Amino acid sequence: MQLKKTSGSEAPVQEEKEPEQEPAGQEEKEPEQEPAGQEEKEPEQEAADQEPKEPEVDREPLIRFENVGKIYQTGQIVYEALHDVNLEVMEGELVVILGPSGAGKSTLLNLLGGLDGASSGKIYFGGEDITAFDDRRLGKFRAVDVGIVFQFYNLVPTLTAYENVDLMQDLGVKIMDPMKALEMVGLADRKDNFPSQLSGGQQQRISIARAIAKMPRLLLCDEPTGALDTNTGKEVLKTLQDQSRVYHKTVVMVTHNSLFADIADKVVWVKNGTVVDVTVNEAPKEADELNW
Ligand SMILES: Nc1ncnc2c1ncn2[C@@H]1O[C@H](COP(=O)(O)OP(=O)(O)OP(=O)(O)O)[C@@H](O)[C@H]1O
Ligand SMILES: [Mg+2]
Repeated sequence: MQLKKTSGSEAPVQEEKEPEQEPAGQEEKEPEQEPAGQEEKEPEQEAADQEPKEPEVDREPLIRFENVGKIYQTGQIVYEALHDVNLEVMEGELVVILGPSGAGKSTLLNLLGGLDGASSGKIYFGGEDITAFDDRRLGKFRAVDVGIVFQFYNLVPTLTAYENVDLMQDLGVKIMDPMKALEMVGLADRKDNFPSQLSGGQQQRISIARAIAKMPRLLLCDEPTGALDTNTGKEVLKTLQDQSRVYHKTVVMVTHNSLFADIADKVVWVKNGTVVDVTVNEAPKEADELNW
């Protein structure tokens, strides 16, 4: 099965052929190169081999919020939903956003996914300032880089599980084989079922399959277990945790349930429109271990 990588910012860079293996005899740089120069190559290579490559991996965050604010204006009423939000999310992290109702969690998620624009500050994604994107570029960002899972699944009732995942393709978005996405959420055998023939947890996992089928770098989930009981909720959490652990996707989940903090790599506490605390879990729990 072919996986189609669609992330714009991960566009494969064609490796240019190294000039190091020039055919012998075609020595254009002859006058500059001393015969002794050839001997220097080996020590150089040795030194390169000894260089520690791992620590050079750039740990730039995938997402960075700098003093982000969001103001809603309805008629004469101006409401500041977010102010002074500073936040970093690393690639592959599972982030849980917690906070009371009305704190600004969904607003934050909407800004993260380019569904809404910031009123002030900057939001960087993969080093690019998405607050500077025009509508077309922002639309492409949403289509390619962001997958979204909502509380109430938003599946099309007249389409099968497979067709619901495949739907993205009809919208012009390149996706992986829908069967592969269904396998990733453990529901390949339910491909021909309609949403009404699936449990709430299974429907949510189909909606996760739909979101991940386009291989987004960022998976956003707003209360993904909000409509589920504990057991089905756990299945969904496990599926989301797998997206981060196994498939190295960046997953940001909003929830009211503070127990979910235990499975996160990073927990972001939002209160009165701003981030009041960020904690990093050194040893996150497995989703199966949670009980609520
Ligand atoms: N489009 C909008 N226009 C005006 N006010 C808005 C809009 N969207 C959100 N708000 C306000 O911004 C504040 C934060 O809303 P938000 O939906 O982000 O909260 P939340 O933390 O997700 O809450 P909940 O846990 O209840 O979902 C609320 O007071 C809300 O009424
Ligand atoms: Mg909300």
